[in-house]
Amino acid sequence: MSEAPILLLGASGQLGWALAPLLALQAPLVAPSRAELDLGDAAALRARLDALRPQGIVNAAAYTAVDRAETETALAWRLNAEVPGELARWAAAHGAWLMHYSTDYVFDGTGQRPWREDDVPRPVNAYGRSKRAGEAFVLESGARAFILRVSWLYGLHGANFLKTMLRLGASRPVVRVVADQVGAPTGTGLVAAVSAELVRRLRSAPDPCPTGLYHLAPTGEASWYDYAAFVFERARAAGWPLVLEHLEPIASADYPTAAPRPANSRLDTTRLATTFGLRLPPWQDEVARTVAVLAEPLSLLPPLMQKS
Ligand SMILES: NC(=O)c1ccc[n+]([C@@H]2O[C@H](COP(=O)([O-])OP(=O)(O)OC[C@H]3O[C@@H](n4cnc5c(N)ncnc54)[C@H](OP(=O)(O)O)[C@@H]3O)[C@@H](O)[C@H]2O)c1
Repeated sequence: MSEAPILLLGASGQLGWALAPLLALQAPLVAPSRAELDLGDAAALRARLDALRPQGIVNAAAYTAVDRAETETALAWRLNAEVPGELARWAAAHGAWLMHYSTDYVFDGTGQRPWREDDVPRPVNAYGRSKRAGEAFVLESGARAFILRVSWLYGLHGANFLKTMLRLGASRPVVRVVADQVGAPTGTGLVAAVSAELVRRLRSAPDPCPTGLYHLAPTGEASWYDYAAFVFERARAAGWPLVLEHLEPIASADYPTAAPRPANSRLDTTRLATTFGLRLPPWQDEVARTVAVLAEPLSLLPPLMQKS
């Protein structure tokens, strides 16, 4: 009999795109697009789960437009709260496992110390409230589930701060970036690698895998300004066509957004690192690699063309 598949949701997103090749090495992978399975439709989701009978579900799908979530509250709630709850209850009822993702935005951002898993979540925006509800539904389902809280996600695929900086730096002499929100830029490569290891543990039946809620981030911390400065440093070294002359640190108050953001997004990763014996890398490592990969095609061009 052939092995039951892993169901990956959100494969077209930043994280899903990094997860797919690693998961496909472990088991047959089914990764429906939004056109093939709209997660807004609870009946369609249920029917797909019942038909597919996956051994496990990796849920990288989410409503991630933090500012729009303030007005599209129902849609954010559907994707970030109801869907994980439905996945977890299906998994609990059918002996399947679940890998789910959440965010540092479940915290209010007060204080200076990194947030631990047992700190009380107090989200300050609609996105954070919907993600927190999703966590709670998963935890109370009784499913064999991991929830990885990650922060400031970026990768090669999809829209993110790192790629926005490269674009702005190539088109504007002055770029202003918020310097009073602190966290750790987290690459999809790191999240996908840790997820693949946890899935491996979930799949090896005799392994009493300690599931539950974990914080995942690389080591070190940075403000968005520090992060941008490092991106530009690496971009310059890689020959990226920067016109940027001045990177200006600003306060959050000078960059009003529809959704407030927590000032302290630091995540304490002690639980994950000690439970699974992981040595997490400095945040700069994957940022440097990502900039290098994005700049790589430039190295194929003759020097004159690079400058024009
Ligand atoms: N981005 C961050 O900075 C950040 C920070 C902390 C935590 N997280 C969490 O990390 C996880 C991955 O985030 P990400 O940045 O990779 O997300 P993303 O790039 O925005 O991707 C979201 C995925 O969800 C899918 N999706 C959304 N609505 C759908 C629907 N109605 N039906 C089917 N699919 C739908 C999208 O499909 P389409 O391509 O069709 O839209 C896409 O594949 C999420 O749980 C997120 O909350 C993200």
